Amino acid sequence: MERGARYDEIGSVYARHRRPDSRVARQIVGALGDAGRVVNVGAGTGSYEPDDRAVVAVEPSGVMIGQRPPGSAPVVQAWAEALPFADGAFDAALAVFTIHHWADIAGGLAEISRVARRLVIFSFDPSVHNAFWLFEDYLPESNALASSNIITPAAVADLVGADRIEVVAVPGDCIDGFNWAYWRRPEAYLDPEVRACISGLALLDDEMVAQRMAMLASDLEDGTWESRHGHLLALDSIDGGLRLVVRD
Ligand SMILES: C[S@@+](CC[C@H](N)C(=O)[O-])C[C@H]1O[C@@H](n2cnc3c(N)ncnc32)[C@H](O)[C@@H]1O
Repeated sequence: MERGARYDEIGSVYARHRRPDSRVARQIVGALGDAGRVVNVGAGTGSYEPDDRAVVAVEPSGVMIGQRPPGSAPVVQAWAEALPFADGAFDAALAVFTIHHWADIAGGLAEISRVARRLVIFSFDPSVHNAFWLFEDYLPESNALASSNIITPAAVADLVGADRIEVVAVPGDCIDGFNWAYWRRPEAYLDPEVRACISGLALLDDEMVAQRMAMLASDLEDGTWESRHGHLLALDSIDGGLRLVVRD
């Protein structure tokens, strides 16, 4: 399968659990500064698109485009690696949870740099991100999968000449159901629909994942999970490795 066509296969229920979290959104909007014309690349269903700017979305998957709410920004079906826009057509380019899906990350970063001066790239630091109890205790295969197309935020920053890298903390009640979202609500991962909205789980073998989630259910039932990770229940937010790479 072509890498970007992935979301035509796994994206059918994405909008049900992948809704923007207001705290994450505030940080993204802050990083966009006063940019008036924004291109959102790998836009998916439209999460984190500010409604007070002129936004154009770029998304290759028809299944994802079909879940964009009525009235959301106009969308162009295209790939990050070949953006159909003139140099400097936008004030800012936004890329959220998408660059690790791009077939040619450096090529896509060169393209967003070409069409906008300001860049806001939301990605993750694997050294923190991969040390998650869900992956370490139950699904190390997810980390192996992710490592096939990984780039560190520092490497992204080098490639685009970024000004800073910001930590984006994951709230304990995070609304946007990405992989770390339920770090304090472990029972959520038992729901197949929740897992279907997390590519690092959706791309694994269903039967294997179901077996591992049966282990998690049993560990929750007999107190094993709480004895290992109960200290997390007292935290309001956590560093799950999520990072904003910003070029002003
Ligand atoms: C995890 S989703 C993120 C969607 C959205 N930005 C969000 O935060 O909800 C990743 C998106 O990247 C898109 N994508 C994959 N490869 C791409 C590429 N080469 N260029 C642009 N978008 C791509 C997928 O189709 C998918 O919609």
